[in-house]
Amino acid sequence: MRMLLAGNWKMNGLRASLGEIRALKRGLAETPPRGDILICPPATLIAEAAKAAEGGPVAIGGQDCHPLPSGAFTGDISAEMLRDAGATAVILGHSERRLYHGETDSLIAAKVKAARRAGLTAILCVGESQAQREQGRAAPVVAAQLEASVPAEIAAFDLVVAYEPIWAIGTGKTPRAMEIAQMHETVRALLTTRFGADGAEIRILYGGSVKPENAAEILAVPNVDGALIGGASVKAADFLAIIRAAPGL
Ligand code: PGA
Repeated sequence: MRMLLAGNWKMNGLRASLGEIRALKRGLAETPPRGDILICPPATLIAEAAKAAEGGPVAIGGQDCHPLPSGAFTGDISAEMLRDAGATAVILGHSERRLYHGETDSLIAAKVKAARRAGLTAILCVGESQAQREQGRAAPVVAAQLEASVPAEIAAFDLVVAYEPIWAIGTGKTPRAMEIAQMHETVRALLTTRFGADGAEIRILYGGSVKPENAAEILAVPNVDGALIGGASVKAADFLAIIRAAPGL
């Protein structure tokens, strides 16, 4: 399966940061990657980032969208607007959106539908908290999130799933390779139950403290088809080091 390495800049980056996208493009021009590379900058930078990335292998995505295409929703951005600005994908249901904006699975499902309507790939995030893992509930929590946040109308083709244990995000902690393998196998089984053979083609990313130092090991785990990378995606040098470490990229 073609790998996807996606960078999530979160609420980081001013126009000066566009240089990182240019640097990434230059770095990848020497040896073009055999997988997909995506950067999701803040919405303010999407249009310029798309311009900066033009003609190279780096695609640009958003970090969230509203379920509706337009309307009286002050401060919100629709999937169509992201697409119009040059995005080809959007991260949805990130744990920081679930936590700080109270996003529920049903809202996230509506956003996944919106992404599809606008022709964007939805990168749907799921993952358990530290307490849930300690209680042995990681797998059922992730299964329930997936069940409730993948809308009925979606095709496997439009979807990427990112497994991000909340306790691993921005903490420098990662699950053991075995734990990642188990969870990704669980997610794979759920996706094939839901989508049949197409479920085997859905990319399952791992996210949470992926760095140049651990990328090779994590990306070699069965059913890990890429990574969603926060902190280490903001600097082109770190992101390039992760891309170089990825087996088969
Ligand atoms: P991190 O973030 O790589 O900084 O841990 C990952 C994410 O939140 O997607």
